[in-house]
Amino acid sequence: MENPQVFATGALPGQAFARLAEAAQVACWPGPGGPPRTELAAQLARVDGLLCLLTDSIDAGLLAAAPRLRVVSSCSVGLDHVDLAAATARGIPVGHTPGVLTETTADLTLALMLAAARRIPEADGFVRSGAWVPERRWEPGMLLGRDLHGATVGLIGLGAIGQAVARRLAGFGCRVLGWTRSGRAVPGVESVALPALLAAADFVSLHIALTPETRGLLDAGRLATMKPGAILVNAARGGLVDEGALAACLANGSLAAAGLDVFADEPVAPTNPLLALDNVVVAPHIGSASIRTRERMADLAVENLLAGLARRPLPACANPEFASR
Ligand code: GLV
Repeated sequence: MENPQVFATGALPGQAFARLAEAAQVACWPGPGGPPRTELAAQLARVDGLLCLLTDSIDAGLLAAAPRLRVVSSCSVGLDHVDLAAATARGIPVGHTPGVLTETTADLTLALMLAAARRIPEADGFVRSGAWVPERRWEPGMLLGRDLHGATVGLIGLGAIGQAVARRLAGFGCRVLGWTRSGRAVPGVESVALPALLAAADFVSLHIALTPETRGLLDAGRLATMKPGAILVNAARGGLVDEGALAACLANGSLAAAGLDVFADEPVAPTNPLLALDNVVVAPHIGSASIRTRERMADLAVENLLAGLARRPLPACANPEFASR
């Protein structure tokens, strides 16, 4: 029997692609950037499997025009770019990469907390710009930041990544508050209502999926109820926060700082007001970007794809309906 046809919207690191190529005919979009929608549609019209990235929007229209498609595998844990309900309705399992990126993303969250609180980019700029001159060798009031150790940290979302962040914060002697939509209880984390978390936390960190219900969760009203001088960290999805309102709170000093790995629109526009603020630390969506973790994500994405092509259960399937099929 002929090998199945697969379209990959981008190359993956490590050896995973080579394993895929042993079992399938793989066409890979050369990049840079992902394929335009017309190219995706043309490929989906002929392939059995799709390997995609979080930058590809896999909507109901594309899925409807994919008559042979047996599996979609995304090299990401988040799936806000895939219409899961439409895939389920078409009987298509959707794979993703939970678990393997948990600890790496939690590390990045701590890096953003510390960088924002201790003003690391400002300090770096100070040295590189030549502002650190002999007359300013060491000043008691220079570049003062805030402590993470001993702080109260509010985690919005207590899935695997939120819990991994909580474990790290225990080592910093933090009091950890948590709010989840499901009310899940986690040892070492005090479950509180969202308004109580926002009012009490010195740091607020987001760890929930972007869905129609969570989009804009931290809107102007909720941001205004955060503790004065608090720090917001987002390594989840930009759409969870009203960026204009956040920029206003950071500019007027009601919030001390923010550490942002994600934006509502990526890449973030150079005109985004957040980029004009010294008290904002930014990164280009690199939460899971360690060498080892990206290889493990690629491995799992390929395992999901191969399982779907063989009509076996996916090791990490996002549609609950097919998870144990
Ligand atoms: C990264 O944001 C992911 O969803 O894997």
